[in-house]
Amino acid sequence: MKKIAVFTSGGDAPGMNACIRAVVRTAVQNKCQVVGIMRGYEGMIEGDFMPLSRPDVSNIIQQGGTILYSARSERFRTKKGRKAAYDQLKKEGIEGVVAIGGNGTFTGAQVFMEEFPDIPFVGVPGTIDNDLYGTDFTIGYDTAINTAMQAIDKIKDTANAHNRIFFVEVMGRDAGFIALLSGIATGSEEVLIPESKTEIEELIANLESIDGEKKTSSIVIVAEGDDEGGAFTVADKVKKLRPDLSIRVTVLGHVQRGGSPTCMERVRASRLGLEAVNALLTGMRGVMIGQIHKDISYIPFSRAINFKQVINPVLLDMVKILR
Ligand code: F6P
Repeated sequence: MKKIAVFTSGGDAPGMNACIRAVVRTAVQNKCQVVGIMRGYEGMIEGDFMPLSRPDVSNIIQQGGTILYSARSERFRTKKGRKAAYDQLKKEGIEGVVAIGGNGTFTGAQVFMEEFPDIPFVGVPGTIDNDLYGTDFTIGYDTAINTAMQAIDKIKDTANAHNRIFFVEVMGRDAGFIALLSGIATGSEEVLIPESKTEIEELIANLESIDGEKKTSSIVIVAEGDDEGGAFTVADKVKKLRPDLSIRVTVLGHVQRGGSPTCMERVRASRLGLEAVNALLTGMRGVMIGQIHKDISYIPFSRAINFKQVINPVLLDMVKILR
């Protein structure tokens, strides 16, 4: 392969830049040119390409966001959009593509490769949600849980000072990984996630006393996709039953998507970027490059898309025992 492309798609995640840098430098070392595709599949459709050489990716390993920008493309969901993207890639002489993103990104890549098999894609898991099957982590997750943890620590101070119950909403439309890990790390009393049923009355009982010991302040972490709703909704339901409780709500929101990636994030993202290029250059296609324990995993897109990363029930139990 003499020329490959790289792009970021879906929600941006800290560490994406470290991955882009690794893709470029590994490819260049293998005498392969790299083109950056701007704004994910949207830029692919429009031919919004940028040549990337070694200096172009200098000094970005520590930056959050993505120098290639990101988007969620509606047009790429259509055959017409994908054909336009194919024509642009052919015109540019692209022989392989590294796609950094999540489930939607790999779904697009899978459909594209079925229609246009002569341009292989490999994927790198990039999403703060950590919800992808076949990898111990996704790029962005480690930074996001640390960001959430630091914010929740601060909320804990004021919750204690006023004997209040705080409902803190963290990201995770379909997955509770950020909620669970940041909840454990902050010693929060409750963690409400989409993967496990939330019972409002049981929640209230637990907030009042845990193992007979009266609680004065509490933190409830709510994943935005919890079955009882986001933090405001859950707080309203609690208030209806217990108007006497002093309750406040904080939504951490997109602060979790930004910031300088952690050390672990940079190292992992760099390794996945390097392995993604090696995979393309050795003829692999249609796989997500992940990591399980210390080993690189090659997960077919069909599996990465159709299976889900599961919550470890031991961690959920830990919340109950250690709160
Ligand atoms: O996929 C990552 C994520 O941050 C989710 O946790 C969240 O639900 C979603 O993206 C938000 O997306 P947007 O920034 O498009 O509103």
